[in-house]
Amino acid sequence: MKERKHTTATDHDTASEARRSFDDALNTAWRRPGELGPDDVRVLLACSVADEECRKRLFAAADEVRRRYVGDEVHLRGIIEFSNHCVRNCHYCGLRAQNRSLPRYRMTEDQIVAVAEAATHLGYIGTIVLQSGEDPAYDGPTLAGVIRKIKKRTGLAVTVSVGDRPREDYALWREAGADRYLLKHETADAELFRRLRPGTTLDGRLRCLRDLRDLGYQVGSGNMVGLPGQTLSTLVDDLLLLRDLDVEMAGIGPFIPHPETPLASAPAGSVDLTLCVLAVARLVLPWAHLPATTALATADHDGRRRALLSGANVVMPNVGPTEYRHLYQIYPGKAAIDEDAMTYVKHVVEMIDSLGRTVGKGAGHSRKPAFTPRS
Ligand code: 5AD
Ligand code: SF4
Repeated sequence: MKERKHTTATDHDTASEARRSFDDALNTAWRRPGELGPDDVRVLLACSVADEECRKRLFAAADEVRRRYVGDEVHLRGIIEFSNHCVRNCHYCGLRAQNRSLPRYRMTEDQIVAVAEAATHLGYIGTIVLQSGEDPAYDGPTLAGVIRKIKKRTGLAVTVSVGDRPREDYALWREAGADRYLLKHETADAELFRRLRPGTTLDGRLRCLRDLRDLGYQVGSGNMVGLPGQTLSTLVDDLLLLRDLDVEMAGIGPFIPHPETPLASAPAGSVDLTLCVLAVARLVLPWAHLPATTALATADHDGRRRALLSGANVVMPNVGPTEYRHLYQIYPGKAAIDEDAMTYVKHVVEMIDSLGRTVGKGAGHSRKPAFTPRS
């Protein structure tokens, strides 16, 4: 009995110590976010994963920091998934070249420009995101032509997201008017990266991210949560890497297994854990644009709303043709797959309204003080 009492007291001491460290870290996040160290990030994540009370406090803090730094506006970025061809064989992704059961499509340059123009008539959309697998069929000059036309005809901000490319391509697209580039680092664990993305390295990806930064892009990166082989330390490293990269945007979503991939039978990433990583990201990167990702909306029907209440301030509705939606099958069961662009945007706007937030006007460029956009 005596011994049991002693154990309980020790457990109690450990728990209250952890709580104290959590409080300290949250206080630092609150007052001096720049000073959050690796131990703070770890404690914020570990405590909120383990304890519901901490989780609630973390989400509330992330929501308040979001409001204080980037306001109540939620920016809509319209995605056009213009090609589902990919030369890579990432173990987690349904677009991998070796998935022979997936019918492939490519939109023509004129089709892409026409979809971007149509998106302007939806209202609300301030940015077009041009996304595809790693598809060399669209070479540097071809995509530059598409970007130039979209900029000229719509005036919208343009984000490009087509993977690792030589610096010359990034430079061409920037000259053509591209404002932002989205290239997720996927995981900060170099060995896991090498294993899950055969033929590519984390170093290579970081080189691309540096090139993009040099060229004056607003840079977006991000990672998946719940990849097999990932640990809590990996997620802490992910968050610290995003801060080192000083990203203007970070996309964080749960891993969702796809049946036609080597990870078909791996467990899906947890929605709660993803929300915790997102909320800590808001504390670590108070100025960043953080999307409520489609992967979160897919893993949990309420995922998008929950993300917007835990630090997120961006939604990326698909504005491409519905006929291609089910073919852009990165993971199965993608949210809102059958909704045409108008309906998709309408539902997103209703949800934003219901939260008492407003849809962002204009391009929704980064408001990070250190960032000076080059025209
Ligand atoms: N589950 C969740 N996200 C995925 N992605 C790729 N495959 C999956 C998956 N199975 C994400 C990656 C990549 C983007 C195209 O989609 O983060 O950058
Ligand atoms: Fe291709 Fe990107 Fe999918 Fe990898 S994650 S297979 S690079 S589309």
